[in-house]
Amino acid sequence: MRILQKLKVLLGMTKKKPYGFRPIRKGDLNVIMDIERQVYDYPWSEHIFKDCLRAGYRNWAFIKGEQFIGYAITSVAVGEAHILNICITPACQKKGLGKVFLSMLFSEMEKEQANCVFLEVRPSNASAIKLYQTMGFKKIGQRKNYYRHADGKEDAWVYSIDLPVG
Ligand SMILES: CC(C)(COP(=O)(O)OP(=O)(O)OC[C@H]1O[C@@H](n2cnc3c(N)ncnc32)[C@H](O)[C@@H]1OP(=O)(O)O)[C@@H](O)C(=O)NCCC(=O)NCCS
Repeated sequence: MRILQKLKVLLGMTKKKPYGFRPIRKGDLNVIMDIERQVYDYPWSEHIFKDCLRAGYRNWAFIKGEQFIGYAITSVAVGEAHILNICITPACQKKGLGKVFLSMLFSEMEKEQANCVFLEVRPSNASAIKLYQTMGFKKIGQRKNYYRHADGKEDAWVYSIDLPVG
């Protein structure tokens, strides 16, 4: 039965839509802002996302068929990739999709000759830290008082990983 299912997937005979990603479009901004406000205490403004679209960052929508599952804002230059924002919509979290999305981003970054990826994360963001550690990121530094926080400021932990992974 399993072999039959695998064959159907390989031959495209299953109705299940695969996960994929495509560049973020202006028309995605309403959905993105809705997710952004749900998941962060200090969400990016729509203005920042519009700037990212204009600035030529790699802005990815993570999709399954028509379903919008998440998004990432990344940049790649001179062999270094940066993840500036990555989100999975709340209803789709904790299902392994963060890992799927990151793997897709890594492949894309490798195509652009990136040999390492950097990101910053709040020490209080346990789910993101778990995701990054699971994917093999290592903590390489700390930026003091980097983020806004209700009690003043919060540091950023800097993580990196070499590409290709594994
Ligand atoms: C961080 C985020 C992208 C993770 O996405 P996700 O789809 O839930 O992650 P996954 O399901 O792929 O889980 C990856 C790992 O993290 C763990 N994890 C996920 N959420 C967790 C949570 N809330 N608490 C503890 N561990 C968690 C999973 O168990 C899994 O570990 P495992 O492989 O050892 O089992 C998602 O929580 C999110 O969008 N958060 C809001 C935005 C954000 O904080 N982005 C990061 C900014 S730096």
